[in-house]
Amino acid sequence: MGLSGKVCVVTGGARGIGLAIGEGFASVGARVVILDLAEEAAQAAAARLGGEAIGIACDTADEASVKTAAERVKSGFGGCDVLVNNAAIFRPKPLIESTLKDWNDGLAVNLSGYYNCVQAFGRLMLEKGGGAMVHIGSIAAFASQFHGVDYSATKAAITGFSRQVAIEWGGRGIRSNVVHPGLTKTPLTAERNAGTDIMERRARMTAAKRMGEPEDIAHAVMFLASERSSYVTGADMIVDGGLQRMLTELIPNANRISDFEEGIRK
Ligand SMILES: NC(=O)c1ccc[n+]([C@@H]2O[C@H](COP(=O)([O-])OP(=O)(O)OC[C@H]3O[C@@H](n4cnc5c(N)ncnc54)[C@H](O)[C@@H]3O)[C@@H](O)[C@H]2O)c1
Repeated sequence: MGLSGKVCVVTGGARGIGLAIGEGFASVGARVVILDLAEEAAQAAAARLGGEAIGIACDTADEASVKTAAERVKSGFGGCDVLVNNAAIFRPKPLIESTLKDWNDGLAVNLSGYYNCVQAFGRLMLEKGGGAMVHIGSIAAFASQFHGVDYSATKAAITGFSRQVAIEWGGRGIRSNVVHPGLTKTPLTAERNAGTDIMERRARMTAAKRMGEPEDIAHAVMFLASERSSYVTGADMIVDGGLQRMLTELIPNANRISDFEEGIRK
C-alpha cells in the first residue's frame, strides 16, 4: 500500500474504530500517532500497536492543544503524511430538550475539531509537499440519527468540508476523502446492547447480514490513505454493509416479511 514508514495521525485513536485504524496502519509498517483526550489511554493504545507508535494527549476541540500535538509530531517524526479525523462525540437528546450548549459542544468536537486538525496537520503536509486526509463521517450524514441533532448536522457538514479541502489543496498534493461507517460493532456498542438481541436484529437489517467490524472501516480508511487511491479525492465512501440500500425492503409485500421489516416489528 506504500504506507510503510509513513507518519499517520489518528484522532480519537485510543479505542473503537480509531484504534482499529491505528492497528491497520501499524500492521503495514506505518509510524502511528494516536491522539486522544487522556494521555494514559493514548499511550496505552500506542503501546498496543508497538513499533514506533506514540500516544499524545490532545483535545481536538482545542486549537492550542492540536497545535502543540502537531509541533510534537513535527519534531518527533519530521512531518505528517496521513491525517485521520475520527474523534467525535454523540450525546443523544430530543431536539426540543437540546440547548445551544449541547449543539455547540457537538460542533466543537465533530466539526471544529476536524477543522483544527486539518489546519495544523495540513500545514505539515503542505511543507512536505502532500499527504492524505480521511475524515470519518457517518451514515447519519444521509439518514438522520435518532435524537442526534448536532451529530447528524456535523456528519453531513464533514462532506462539504472535506470537498473544500480537496479542491483548495489538491494542486499541492493533498487528497481529502470521507469514510461513512454504518452500524459498527465497537466494544462500546457491544457492551451497551449486551444481553439483548439488538446486535443480531441490526445485522439482519443490512444487505451483508452482519454488523460492521472496526476493521471493516479501517480497511476503507487505509485504502483512501494509501497511494492505491491516488486519483480519489473529494469522495465519500459509505461502508455500511448495504444498510442504506435496504429501504425497499420496507415496502409491504404479500408474499413475505423481509428481515428488515421483521427487525423493526420485533
Ligand atoms: N460506532 C459506530 O457504529 C459508528 C457509526 C458511524 C460513525 N461512527 C464514527 O466513527 C468515529 C469513531 O467512533 P467510535 O464508535 O469508535 O467512538 P468511541 O466513542 O468508541 O471513540 C471515540 C474516541 O474519540 C475520543 N475523543 C472524543 N472527543 C475527543 C476530543 N475532543 N479530542 C480527542 N479525542 C476525543 C474518545 O476519547 C474516544 O477514544 C466517530 O467519528 C463516529 O462518529 C461510528
